[in-house]
Amino acid sequence: MYTFALLVLTLLSCLKLEEVQGYFPEERWNPESPLLAPRVLIALICRNSEHSLSYFLGTIERLNYPKDRIAMWVATDHNVDNTTALLRDWLIKVQKSYHSVEWRPLEHPSSFQDEEGPKHWSNLRYAYVMKLRQAALESAREMWADYFMHIDCDNLLTNPDVLWKLINENKTIIAPMLESRAAYSNFWCGMTIQGYYKRTPAYIPIRKQARRGCFAVPMVHSTFLIDLRKESSRELAFHPPHPEYNWAFDDIIVFAFSARMADVQMFVLNRETYGYFPVPLRAHNTLRDEADSFIHSVLEVNVKHPPLEPSKYLPLPVRQPDKLGFDEVFMINLQRRADRRERMLRALREQEIDCKVIAAVDGKAMNVSEVHDMGIHMLPGYNDPYHGRPLTKGELGCFLSHYNIWKEIVERGLRTSLVIEDDLRFEVFFKRRLQNLMMEIESEGLDWDLIYIGRKRMQVDHREKAVPNVHNLVEADYSYWTLGYMMSLQGAKKLLKAEPLKKMLPVDEFLPVMFNKHPVKDYMEHFKPRNLKAFSAEPLLVFPTHYTGDPGYISDTETSTVWDNDKVRTDWDRGRGHSSKTKEQAEISTEAQNSDVLHSPLDRTAREEL
Ligand SMILES: *[C@@H]1O[C@H](CO)[C@@H](O)[C@H](O)[C@H]1NC(C)=O
Ligand SMILES: *[C@@H]1O[C@H](CO)[C@@H](O)[C@H](O)[C@H]1NC(C)=O
Ligand SMILES: *[C@@H]1O[C@H](CO)[C@@H](O)[C@H](O)[C@H]1NC(C)=O
Repeated sequence: MYTFALLVLTLLSCLKLEEVQGYFPEERWNPESPLLAPRVLIALICRNSEHSLSYFLGTIERLNYPKDRIAMWVATDHNVDNTTALLRDWLIKVQKSYHSVEWRPLEHPSSFQDEEGPKHWSNLRYAYVMKLRQAALESAREMWADYFMHIDCDNLLTNPDVLWKLINENKTIIAPMLESRAAYSNFWCGMTIQGYYKRTPAYIPIRKQARRGCFAVPMVHSTFLIDLRKESSRELAFHPPHPEYNWAFDDIIVFAFSARMADVQMFVLNRETYGYFPVPLRAHNTLRDEADSFIHSVLEVNVKHPPLEPSKYLPLPVRQPDKLGFDEVFMINLQRRADRRERMLRALREQEIDCKVIAAVDGKAMNVSEVHDMGIHMLPGYNDPYHGRPLTKGELGCFLSHYNIWKEIVERGLRTSLVIEDDLRFEVFFKRRLQNLMMEIESEGLDWDLIYIGRKRMQVDHREKAVPNVHNLVEADYSYWTLGYMMSLQGAKKLLKAEPLKKMLPVDEFLPVMFNKHPVKDYMEHFKPRNLKAFSAEPLLVFPTHYTGDPGYISDTETSTVWDNDKVRTDWDRGRGHSSKTKEQAEISTEAQNSDVLHSPLDRTAREEL
């Protein structure tokens, strides 16, 4: 009896226990999977863009976003160049990776009736582009895309995470701030009551990233994202203009007005660097101007980032380098600075400039007895005017590198040469500006020995004398740096004749001595005659890539040991260092044209199979 009772008790308690633990085993539990990426339609509307497509599409390919969640909407029209064929080629190769591709080419005609050039924004073109954008937006709505992303075909999105960064801000319309030459960018901080650009104090701190964040602005353009899940986005339109619209007939202003009427605030994001784009040119520019301006943005990217790679699927436009009419173009590079060499060779190739690389003399690898064996002696009493120290080994190497080039110029009898160092950046339209300058100098029959194209002016309190009948040329005053200069045969001969190795001072002090403009008379007395005919391009054509204090600034001439004592290291930030920002250009306003507003029905281009 007792045993039975115990058994029942045990059974009961077992049951209870099993009730607690769950008698029927539960389904195996898995965490919820993450959501798929939102669906994005990317609209690309390209015209006469052959020069930019390879780099541009390369940045699109590298966007860090699942391609099967992207629909591509691509249109091109009125081309005089090979844009249609290139785009079609690219789409055929990439279409399988994307969710879908819509292709709307229009081959004929190749121009608008009212336009004055292949890049002129005539009214017909404005209207056409607005309609295309509207068609893309409607496609996105029809396919229930979550986002609509518009990217102009010369905008280089160097930050592959840009799409996610924009999405994560939860805004209806948001643009990544794009970098450009000078202070230009793809947003405005102010708008006049006529809808034009207005300069405001808020602009520069945002543009220069002194303030970082996500800012409400009256205008964004070129590259921007629209969140189509937001109710108010349904009222946004690129075309036709809002019934109350009476501002200028300009695509970006029409759209900004549409946003205003829909109570949608535009935002610009500048927390990071997202991309680059060229400054728009005047209305009547040529395709070559556009190409050169675009190439300049590529070079700017390459100064600050790893080199921009082209599309995997499109060839780069053919380049035909030449020597710009010089007998030789010398590029001085320290062999151990392969990064700089590679960057400069790319920059020169993009600009179709051919050069001879000269291995710089590595001053750090030389010892004192070697220096004396070469018959080198320092200028007695030379002291750096800023830090009161003698020459560094870096400066010694730098001098010898330039000296060797002057020797080669004389040995080979080179009538004119261009000498550039490897740490410089080029002014936009560098090649053409330089060629124009040379043409004027030649037609004027100017007798010259040295012409700086990049330097640091040391006496900025007075103007230098302009050379008559030659644009953009002045007689050089006391200057530092040897970033870039032209040298004539006669000039090289004068410099060698002065026997500077016997009384060496930094090469950028030696040159002003030789044109008799050095402020220290004691140095000048060691050299006679000091009759170098020196000039300078004004404005300058090349600038240092980095200034002292910038991230990435390394000077090989200034961070080294004093020439006659290996134990004395110097890394003084000298006055000769690239320490002065050369220019702060003004904001550039969009010059919208006044015209009547057109209200034409939306005419879609025909969709075409690939
Ligand atoms: C245009 O591009 C296509 C596709 O890449 C190429 O096959 C063709 O040779 C190009 N034509 C010209 C004139 O450059
Ligand atoms: C955007 O929305 C998500 C989800 O509601 C939120 O987690 C995130 O913090 C928001 N981001 C910003 C910048 O407000
Ligand atoms: C200086 O360099 C030369 C050549 O590299 C070498 O032969 C010599 O021993 C060096 N002298 C000193 C003092 O290091």
